[in-house]
Amino acid sequence: MLLAVLCFCLLSSVAGYHLTPEFQEHSTALDYLRTTNKTISDLLDGKLNVECVACEIFVDTLQMLVHMNASENEIATLIQEACIKLHIEDQRVCSYIINEFRDEFITVALKLILHPAWLCYAALGPTCGEPPDIFPFWNVTIPGNKPKRQPLVRPQNGLPVLKVVQLSDVHVDLAYKPGGVKDCGEPLCCREGSGVGKDKAGYWGSLNSSCDIPIWTYKNALEFISKEIKPDLIFWTGDIPAHDVWDQPRAAQLHHIQVTADLLSQYFPDTFVYPSLGNHESAPVDSFPPPGITTKDLSNDWLNHFIQKVWSRWLPPESLETIGYAGYYAVQYSERLRIISLNTQYCDNLNFWLYLNNTDPAHMLDWLVKELSWAEQVGVSVIILGHIPTCRSDCMKAFSWNFYRIIDRFEATVVGQYYGHTHQDHFAMMYSEDEDRHPTAFQFISPSLTTYSNLRPAIRLYTLDGVHAKSTYRPLKSETWLLDLDRANEKNETVWELEYDSVNAYNMTWLTPETMQELYQRFVKDRDYFDKTFFKYRFHLQPGSKCDDNCYKNNLCELKTGRSHDPSICADVSVEEQHEFFLQHKMC
Ligand SMILES: *[C@@H]1O[C@H](CO)[C@@H](O)[C@H](O)[C@H]1NC(C)=O
Ligand SMILES: *[C@@H]1O[C@H](CO)[C@@H](O)[C@H](O)[C@H]1NC(C)=O
Ligand SMILES: *[C@@H]1O[C@H](CO)[C@@H](O)[C@H](O)[C@H]1NC(C)=O
Ligand SMILES: *[C@@H]1O[C@H](CO)[C@@H](O)[C@H](O)[C@H]1NC(C)=O
Ligand SMILES: *[C@@H]1O[C@H](CO)[C@@H](O)[C@H](O)[C@H]1NC(C)=O
Ligand SMILES: *[C@@H]1O[C@H](CO)[C@@H](O)[C@H](O)[C@H]1NC(C)=O
Ligand SMILES: *[C@@H]1O[C@H](CO)[C@@H](O)[C@H](O)[C@H]1NC(C)=O
Repeated sequence: MLLAVLCFCLLSSVAGYHLTPEFQEHSTALDYLRTTNKTISDLLDGKLNVECVACEIFVDTLQMLVHMNASENEIATLIQEACIKLHIEDQRVCSYIINEFRDEFITVALKLILHPAWLCYAALGPTCGEPPDIFPFWNVTIPGNKPKRQPLVRPQNGLPVLKVVQLSDVHVDLAYKPGGVKDCGEPLCCREGSGVGKDKAGYWGSLNSSCDIPIWTYKNALEFISKEIKPDLIFWTGDIPAHDVWDQPRAAQLHHIQVTADLLSQYFPDTFVYPSLGNHESAPVDSFPPPGITTKDLSNDWLNHFIQKVWSRWLPPESLETIGYAGYYAVQYSERLRIISLNTQYCDNLNFWLYLNNTDPAHMLDWLVKELSWAEQVGVSVIILGHIPTCRSDCMKAFSWNFYRIIDRFEATVVGQYYGHTHQDHFAMMYSEDEDRHPTAFQFISPSLTTYSNLRPAIRLYTLDGVHAKSTYRPLKSETWLLDLDRANEKNETVWELEYDSVNAYNMTWLTPETMQELYQRFVKDRDYFDKTFFKYRFHLQPGSKCDDNCYKNNLCELKTGRSHDPSICADVSVEEQHEFFLQHKMC
């Protein structure tokens, strides 16, 4: 986030940037131009992405200052001044943001001799091209003897089912102010102190703006779920605080976690809730130092110990130890279902701590393999929860590829994966690595309750097969419910309406890797069908919305890409400009 800010800052200043001889000597960005035989005119002709080059030059300069022994204060002041003078954000946001990030950013990002391309890739995405692979790839040990595949048989109708609500990315803004400014020019608007502008925030939330939702909209969603849906259990896949990432002291983050958890308990006194940590829970955002980082006061214990306490209302003592250690856990839901919640921030490419050592942080994947091996032996099915889906380019390559192999090996045991983070409603396929490349699994990526950015508040409901003697715990149906925000704001009437369900929209009564692969094939064959269904639902669009050629290819590619940083998987879709699409929807 900060880096994105810095890079945009450079974007506006690149023309006036003076290069000192010393800098030219040192610059890897210029090396890049030289070694690729690119010239400044390539840059001006738009053949190079100006943002990326600018970002690299800026990071490079900062690193040079570090090596010249500039103090943290000097560097912070420089960044802050650049931020203000170049109008990246207003003065208020600029001065806050530097304090918020200085420890992490200056200690980790700059002191590391890290190729600037990496930091800029992290901030700006694939638009900068794949950076040099500086991290050693690592492999978790996965046991052999994968059981022979058995065909999946749909359970008969009439057997018991489990109703599961997934709440994701609630991003509650405790400072939300109806009538506040909607287009304030800061990263988060519609709140106390949001500068000046014309458009006013609605009472229940605001579309077409950078605004999160007020606490009463969160309560209203809980009330609707408790009265109308009455779920058997709730998956709560993270991202609780608002997007005011420039000013989030630890105490404020913990307060959000406490308040939202208490409301859940109030509306659902007898329902089990299974939470996962989101990348916004920490302070600063995305900063999740793995165990072992104890420098200064930088360890993540403050957060892990807190959620250990808050979540203990829903989880048994035996699940709590790993939470206190690193924010992940496993819990037995029923005799034959185990739920595993991962701390996916250990693959988050904006978690700069991973640049110090990204080998299986907190031994989480190693632990996952042991859990799954045990489950396979005793015939228990496993559902995996997490915040960042491992299919996204935000998820670092080695982690994502290892995870992909683990799912392949345990395809019979892992019967569902539920994530959030993108705020959109979509899924991603995973395939086996043997010759036949059959679908092994898919990841559900569920829409957000927050409106950020320009998405109606959404609640996701899954009907799973279970609990009975032969239960597969696989999904039979998915539904998305939306708040009619215009009506809510105009008439003060809150109506939640079914946007679609998989039975009626897709004619599917059983959501397995095979049936989801068939659905994907339908999207490939019938673009009109894709526009009318998946594309519309992904962003909650009006009927008649069309995805252009580039958008269509990108969507197909993303649907197929259960593994990050793997362009080969989309070779048949011939995606040309994945970048633009990625950037457009990056803010999670
Ligand atoms: C750049 O140009 C030089 C000299 O013209 C040539 O030797 C080199 O192979 C070129 N490099 C690339 C990456 O095209
Ligand atoms: C920076 O400080 C280190 C250790 O104090 C010293 O060895 C080094 O020469 C200094 N570098 C410069 C450029 O002043
Ligand atoms: C990890 O596994 C891959 C595929 O089996 C192999 O090519 C690679 O050399 C391994 N890397 C390490 C560091 O063991
Ligand atoms: C959204 O906002 C933009 C600029 O702020 C405006 O041009 C556009 O008309 C708005 N769209 C809707 C649907 O209100
Ligand atoms: C990196 O982290 C892993 C997992 O926590 C650990 O086993 C390994 O020793 C660490 N490597 C280094 C070089 O510190
Ligand atoms: C909308 O109704 C709620 C009660 O449901 C009330 O508390 C709130 O003040 C009303 N808002 C407006 C803008 O009238
Ligand atoms: C729905 O699926 C069933 C069988 O799976 C098929 O017989 C039927 O034709 C399908 N209906 C539509 C409208 O595609």
